[in-house]
Amino acid sequence: MTTKKLHIGTRAVQDGYQPKNAEPRVPGIIQSTTYKFDTAEQIGDVFDLKDTAHIYSRISNPTVNQLEEKINSLEGGTGALALSSGHAAVTLAILNLCSNGDHFVAAKSLYGGTINLFSTTLKKFGITCTFVDQDAPLEELQKAIQPNTKLVFAESLTNPGMEVLDFEKFSLFASKNGLPLLIDNTFPTPVLCQPFKHGANVVIHSTTKFIDGHATSLGGVIVDGGNFNWQNGKFPEFTEPDTSYHGVRYAIDFKDNPFVVKARTQLLRDLGPCLSPFNAFLTFQGCQTLALRMERHSKNTLQLAQWLEKQPQVEWVKYPELTSSPYHLLSKKYLPDGASGVLAFGCKGGIEETKQFINRLQLAKLVVHVGDIRTSVVHPASMTHRQLTEEQLLNINITPNLIRVSVGIEHIDDIIADFEQAL
Ligand SMILES: Cc1ncc(COP(=O)(O)O)c(C=O)c1O
Repeated sequence: MTTKKLHIGTRAVQDGYQPKNAEPRVPGIIQSTTYKFDTAEQIGDVFDLKDTAHIYSRISNPTVNQLEEKINSLEGGTGALALSSGHAAVTLAILNLCSNGDHFVAAKSLYGGTINLFSTTLKKFGITCTFVDQDAPLEELQKAIQPNTKLVFAESLTNPGMEVLDFEKFSLFASKNGLPLLIDNTFPTPVLCQPFKHGANVVIHSTTKFIDGHATSLGGVIVDGGNFNWQNGKFPEFTEPDTSYHGVRYAIDFKDNPFVVKARTQLLRDLGPCLSPFNAFLTFQGCQTLALRMERHSKNTLQLAQWLEKQPQVEWVKYPELTSSPYHLLSKKYLPDGASGVLAFGCKGGIEETKQFINRLQLAKLVVHVGDIRTSVVHPASMTHRQLTEEQLLNINITPNLIRVSVGIEHIDDIIADFEQAL
């Protein structure tokens, strides 16, 4: 049961699990690979997708379902599919639309791992990607479209550049080409931005980040907006019978959420990146305080960004809520309640000064992560984005002195004091 009309902070706390009389207040962990049926006919109905009971935990599990329901409610979707990592979610979302010989368009400012996936690994499967400058005018974006283009992909708030996507332009770009818009909404989370309200058709998260929030569990999720016309002639896999699934026609037989039903029944079944019930349980627990945490993360990050801007040792600071940011207006439009918990800044000097600064931090730890309750830093050029060439790094504005800070929920005075002594 979901409680859609309530505020998002209430839904984060309440949705996904409603105990019945005398049931546990907190959902249990169903750590079972499989499920028992009384008759062959009953289990046959589940295999035929006539019944949604669980048969095997690679495909679905009750604890994982509770997390799916909670995140689906927060995003305002029509169905969700949880997976073993954010990367699994991104990969399955693309493979759900593209086969050998297909092409897609992606904004060029993305998490480094996503860039590798799009530019190198998917290419080995015969799927190609054209990267575009997300700030380019519509006419420029249009040049990337090919007859075999299947989707448009972007991050709502980019990692680590903190660029805010112009949803109006991007959703127009996708829709006028009859393509779905897929948005990685990991950084803002549904608490700060709900992409379906701005024209997205599929939302993806690395739940590993803010949604879990405590750095305990890898996870990912795909949410279906249920708002795309898959019957526009470009997506036969959605309209023709699936011979591997008893002739199911996803866009016709599962009108509400064909994208996630197809991803679950074809790709999760065949490729297997399922979320463990224990990780789902921990992520569900973390997600309950998401609204509270995002408010504090955003407030702390703005204060740290404003303080850093005034320091003589600092060359530049990127945070969309700063009035100096080129994304300030887009931030006001799409992130009115806060611009999340990540900022990037550059120390004066080069790579050596940057490393020395990082080594002097005490409260903030050097950790390959964002979205944790504890403040942490990374140096993308030598860590998260180090597989990229120097040219690729500069192309996405990652300079050697860029430090990405994931600002935690500690007291802001203590965070600033740590940065002050390190500078
Ligand atoms: C924006 C974004 N998307 C996807 C991913 C991949 O998620 P995961 O590490 O959970 O596989 C990350 C990881 O940092 C990310 O920052």
